[in-house]
Amino acid sequence: MDTVTSAISPSMQAICRLDDIPDGGAMAVEVMLAHGEDSVILMRQGSQVQCYLNICPHAGRQLDYAPGKFLLQDQTLICAVHGASFNKTDGLCIAGPCKGDSLRSVVVRMQGDEIFLA
Ligand code: FES
Repeated sequence: MDTVTSAISPSMQAICRLDDIPDGGAMAVEVMLAHGEDSVILMRQGSQVQCYLNICPHAGRQLDYAPGKFLLQDQTLICAVHGASFNKTDGLCIAGPCKGDSLRSVVVRMQGDEIFLA
């Protein structure tokens, strides 16, 4: 009998499917991280996905204006609390009260159309 080995470790946590995230949009998902359960932001551009902790470096608040709803403008994500603007691609704050700080990146991997937290 042949054994099929998955490239995904059994310890990796499936968090959603690519199609769950609107193309060009964002969503929030509650995940289990090393320090406990937390909210992460998933942003999609085509088949590319960026993932960050949903914690603003300015005042430690979540960035969404309603649960899972984010302010997106061109290539930036805007914190709904005090308006800090972050690059979608690297999480760097380019304007606002925490300019120069960054969102904390969370490593995700894709297997087919499934997204996993490493
Ligand atoms: S908490 Fe995000 S800009 Fe202040």
